[in-house]
Amino acid sequence: MKKIIKQLVEAYGPSGHEEQVRALIKKEIRALADEIRTDTLGNLIAFKKGNGKGRRIMLSAHMDEIGVIVSYIDNKGFLRINPIGGGQPLYEVTGRVRFADGTTGVIGMEKQDDQSKIPVIDKLFVDVGATGRKDCPVKVGDAACFDRQMVETGGNLIAKSMDDRIGCAVLIGVMKALKNSPHDIYFVFSVQEEVGLRGATTSAFGILPELGIAVDVTACPDTPEAPHKMAVELGKGPAIKIKDAGMLAAPKIKDWMIETAERRRIPYQLEVLPFGATDARAMQTTQSGVLSGCLSIPCRYVHSTSETVSYSDVQNAVKLLTAMLVK
Ligand code: CO
Ligand code: ZN
Repeated sequence: MKKIIKQLVEAYGPSGHEEQVRALIKKEIRALADEIRTDTLGNLIAFKKGNGKGRRIMLSAHMDEIGVIVSYIDNKGFLRINPIGGGQPLYEVTGRVRFADGTTGVIGMEKQDDQSKIPVIDKLFVDVGATGRKDCPVKVGDAACFDRQMVETGGNLIAKSMDDRIGCAVLIGVMKALKNSPHDIYFVFSVQEEVGLRGATTSAFGILPELGIAVDVTACPDTPEAPHKMAVELGKGPAIKIKDAGMLAAPKIKDWMIETAERRRIPYQLEVLPFGATDARAMQTTQSGVLSGCLSIPCRYVHSTSETVSYSDVQNAVKLLTAMLVK
C-alpha cells in the first residue's frame, strides 16, 4: 500500500487540476469496479454492484490538494500568487511549488519591517528562474502544488497532500479488500474539496445515496502545546467523526463505525473537531438529506508540506471500512 500512497501524495493536483491524480487512481482501480466514469466536474466515480439486498452507499475522498495560482508576473519574471484553499504562508516561505508541466519555483518573501508578524501571501513571490515576462515558463492562471517527497520516519508517513490522498488510498484499499458486499457502493474520488466541497456536492446530488461516508484527514493536536484539545492522537486508530464545523455525524453512521470497530477489535478514537468540514457535509445536505458520517485519519501539520500520518491508522481505517461494508 505504501507504493500507491507515495505515488498519490507526490502527484500534482491542486483543486480544479486533478487530472494527474485521477489518471493514477483510474489505473489502480481498473479491475476492481463494475463501472468507472468521470463526471462533468471531474469526479472519478467507481461503482461496485451489490447483491440487491444491501443499501446504496457513497464513499468519498477528495483528490485535490491546496496550492497556489499565478495572479501576476512582474517585469523581472517573479510571480505573484493567490491561494487555492487554506494554505499557511508561514509554512510556505523558501518552500517549493511545482506546476503541471514540472516547472519548479521557490517561494520567496519581501522584507518585513515587523519580524514578529506571520507573513501574508501578498508579500510572497515565486522565483521560477525567469528574467522577465518573455522567458517566464508559466502564465497567469497556471496552478501549482507545493512540492515535497514522501518520507517514512518511525511508523509515520510524511508528505504534502496526505490531505486527502491518504483518503483516496484508503478507498482504493477498501476496493481491493472488499471481495463481496451486499451493498451498491459508489467510490467517489472527488474534486475541489479544498475550495468548498464542490465535487462532492454535485456527485452526491447525482448519486443520491442512502448512506454517505467521507474519508479525510483530521487535526491531531497531540504535539507540545498544541493549539486545541482533542481526544485524538497519532497511531491510536482512525478517528470516528462526531462533529466538525460543517457537520454533526448521523448517530446511526457513528454507531455503525463504533460497533464494527468494537466487534472486530480495531482501535479507534472519537473526533470532535472545532473547525473544518469534509465531503460528508455535502453528502448530508444533498437533495432531501442523506445519513452521513466521516472516518478520519489523524494528521499532524495539516495543510503543510509535512502532513504526518501513522501508517497503522491508515491500515486500520481500511480494515474498519471493509468490515462495515462486508455485511
Ligand atoms: Co484540507
Ligand atoms: Zn481534506
